[in-house]
Amino acid sequence: MRKRIFSGIQPSGKLHIGNYLGAIKNWIGLQDEYDCVWGIVDYHSMTIPYDPEGMEGRVIDCAATYLAAGLDPKKCVLMIQSKVKEHTELTWILNTVTPVSWLERVPTFKDKSKRFKDNINMGLMDYPTLMAADIILYKAHAVPVGEDQLPHLELTREIVRRFNNTFGDLFPEPKAIIQKGALIRGLDGQAKMSKSLNNCLYIDDTPEEIWKKLSVAVTDPQRIRKTDPGDPEVCNLFSLHQLFSTDEQIAYCAEGCRTAGIGCLQCKKILSENIAQELTPIREEKQKLLNNMSYIKDVLTEGIAHSQKIASKTIEEVYEKIGTNYKFMK
Ligand code: TYM
Repeated sequence: MRKRIFSGIQPSGKLHIGNYLGAIKNWIGLQDEYDCVWGIVDYHSMTIPYDPEGMEGRVIDCAATYLAAGLDPKKCVLMIQSKVKEHTELTWILNTVTPVSWLERVPTFKDKSKRFKDNINMGLMDYPTLMAADIILYKAHAVPVGEDQLPHLELTREIVRRFNNTFGDLFPEPKAIIQKGALIRGLDGQAKMSKSLNNCLYIDDTPEEIWKKLSVAVTDPQRIRKTDPGDPEVCNLFSLHQLFSTDEQIAYCAEGCRTAGIGCLQCKKILSENIAQELTPIREEKQKLLNNMSYIKDVLTEGIAHSQKIASKTIEEVYEKIGTNYKFMK
């Protein structure tokens, strides 16, 4: 039996290259080796203010991006979190073994409760418990994510230990799989690339949009004039070169930067072309898929049915452990 993997993305807006490099691109390489379930985690996206009318469109957009980027429904399962009710049911059960203090110390809770002061809701706090439920409902052994998710994964492992100690062994402790591109900074070169920070290159950006954004993106702050030598190691765009460019181009740009042999614009031009080359086929394939809604619907319907089977089996085992599998009802 192949080991299982679960991961997911919130449909909270257009997906950016942080989602692509930190998650989706790595997932593609895992689908041959593992039994993979990829979720569109719509309930997670409700924890900050959102537009309910646009939810359906964002879920479809996310599914089309998964498929266009290369997730293959013949090899993996694509599902929508809210359509498998056991995700929220298991969250409740896990709530009873999760100390409030564990949730209060989660960095995203601290950060988001500062940014959304008027809406510090229970969901925002309980978000990692739902994430733990997403993962262990499928008894996933591993979870491929970007670095920002590591505290959530650590918490999942703690919740699993607490559940297993309280009720008896049932769930494996899932490990994080961290690969190349696990922390992509925004084009401001400062914070993590994030939908809510307006510092993104989107997977859907056209070559013109990519160039427009890159041409003003922050590089080595010490390199003010073209004649100033720079340090590629502190340049945010150089880290993107390492993910999109050939070895020769990387060496050429590093040397050109250090010796002031080339200017930042020239270096950006190469990067911009390479990013466009990688993203254009995805954008075009996504457009085709969006014109074929019945295919997207079939993939998700099948994925949800498959996930449901696994989820129903796990939740029965959970009932047995927690004492709610009432014999007199049989
Ligand atoms: P979300 O929707 O914020 O991000 C989805 C995935 O993209 C990665 N990512 C990044 N990687 C590198 N650099 C960045 N700037 C960047 N921004 C985002 C994230 O690390 C993530 O892998 N809580 C999760 C969603 C979730 C989940 C789960 C993940 C819910 N249940 C179960 C794994 C397993 C989240 O908010 O991801």
